[in-house]
Amino acid sequence: MASVTLNKIAKVYPNGFKAVHEIDFKINDGEFVVLVGPSGCAKSTLLRMVAGLESITSGELRIGDAVVNRALPKDRGAAMVFQNYALYPHMKVRDNLAFGLKLQGLPKEEVAARVQEAARTLEIEPLLDRYPRQLSGGQSQRVAVGRAIVKKPQVFLFDEPLSNLDAKLRASMRVRITELHQQLKAAGQPCTVIYVTHDQVEAMTMGERICVLKEGRIQQFDTPSKLYNQPANTFVASFIGSPEMNMLEADLSVDGSTRTVTLLNATGKLTASDLHVSGSRLPIKLGLRPENVLVNASDEAGVLWVDARMSHIEYMGSEVFAYFRVGETVVTSRLPASLATTVSQMKRGEATRIGLQLAHAHLFDAVSGVNLTV
Ligand SMILES: Nc1ncnc2c1ncn2[C@@H]1O[C@H](COP(=O)(O)OP(=O)(O)O)[C@@H](O)[C@H]1O
Ligand SMILES: [Mg+2]
Repeated sequence: MASVTLNKIAKVYPNGFKAVHEIDFKINDGEFVVLVGPSGCAKSTLLRMVAGLESITSGELRIGDAVVNRALPKDRGAAMVFQNYALYPHMKVRDNLAFGLKLQGLPKEEVAARVQEAARTLEIEPLLDRYPRQLSGGQSQRVAVGRAIVKKPQVFLFDEPLSNLDAKLRASMRVRITELHQQLKAAGQPCTVIYVTHDQVEAMTMGERICVLKEGRIQQFDTPSKLYNQPANTFVASFIGSPEMNMLEADLSVDGSTRTVTLLNATGKLTASDLHVSGSRLPIKLGLRPENVLVNASDEAGVLWVDARMSHIEYMGSEVFAYFRVGETVVTSRLPASLATTVSQMKRGEATRIGLQLAHAHLFDAVSGVNLTV
């Protein structure tokens, strides 16, 4: 059993900087969890504490049932893959893979068999007699994963393993890593994965659950669809999804069961029934995904039409991103390619109206950023 449990884990670096603020979570045995957040939010610090490469200032870390705060890295049953791969340049691939196992004192035959097996799984058998300098970025990356696999760890720790690869290779390696997790499960060797990235696309496509971090604090720990559809606050709402969720300053007034939002001079009624609000009037941020911003003026119910000015468009092939200004705020609309002609005929600065599908709006407290609708 290799669940990973953090109980009030904190990290204060020797210079006094508190990088991690009392974090609690449990990653289940065999689960694939992604830690995501902008640079500096303490993803690596957390991962290195789990690996045993960084001391834990306070709190309790368990792998399975054992408290491992003071266990040596090699005794934790975890293997880490680093961003820069950290291969030994003077050793052939075969020896890079075998090195950790030899240190553990495994018999020669066992080492050779595990190296073969990993090489086959990762399709790097033809590379076994090369040196790291003779490998491409993608090949080095696979060798780095191989070096972790041969250890048959209970927990895999990945720290931004794909960020040195070009976009195309990154996309294919994403699939490879998630497939590997499933293969190991099917083969009866399930492993728990903690995968760190700053890339929300990687997080959304790979994680069974995702932990969103900001400045050493958890913002939300949930499934990809919950993060997208029910973001806990403006930070998560803006971080997950591309193009970003639109955020418009508005006023919300609550009168019995009637909710009215006022945005500049436009007002619209809301259907959201269970708002967590106290008071009858408050400033909010109205969050709306680009797919919920319309340009063709049908008078669909529940759509609030507001004055806007055309800014520019980005043609993506299957869809179009159109950017408008509502007051000083830029509002993005994601449209099917069939509307490309309609929007591309508009001139920059041209006055128009855009439709906000209020039924899909998220209402955030303007001060705390908390989502009032979840
Ligand atoms: N050895 C250190 N001493 C002091 N501060 C550090 C040290 N290592 C990292 N930090 C700080 O801790 C925070 C988290 O760093 P890190 O875990 O590397 O973030 P991430 O991996 O999310 O980019 C950052 O503000 C970073 O500057
Ligand atoms: Mg990092």
